[in-house]
Amino acid sequence: MPGSYVAYSRIAMEKTGSILKELESVVSEHPTLISRILRVSENLVRHDLSGALGQLEGFRRAIRRHADIEEDLFLPVYRDLDNIPRTGRAEFFVDEHRRIDSTLDSLVIELQGLSSETATDAGIVSLVEQLGRFRNLIDHHFRREEMTLYPRLREALE
Ligand SMILES: [Fe+2]
Ligand SMILES: [Fe+2]
Repeated sequence: MPGSYVAYSRIAMEKTGSILKELESVVSEHPTLISRILRVSENLVRHDLSGALGQLEGFRRAIRRHADIEEDLFLPVYRDLDNIPRTGRAEFFVDEHRRIDSTLDSLVIELQGLSSETATDAGIVSLVEQLGRFRNLIDHHFRREEMTLYPRLREALE
């Protein structure tokens, strides 16, 4: 029936529109997430270990939520697109999310093991360096998403 077809199209368009809106909001979190890792290092160099731990745990919650939305909402659409480059496969992004997760868990455990009384300058420097490497990992992941995942999704959904 034409009436139901129109209604169906409108619902489909509304659904597509809302995914696009969510997509722009999620990709706009990338720079903020990167700067939150810097806040952790800044707390560490000030020897504010509980502040650093609070920041890192907050970051872990935020990036998990971010990756969950990408995996639950965007990657199922992306998987069905044609001509996805080999280096931009959906599984590749999921693997990177797992790697980010496990690196983050190790960093949290390491930071929990430091106390203001016993932490040495060398211990703090080592953690700041690990956070720098972790920031590079996240930065590369975001860049790959911004080069492949997000442009291809925009193209398909617009
Ligand atoms: Fe991601
Ligand atoms: Fe992302």
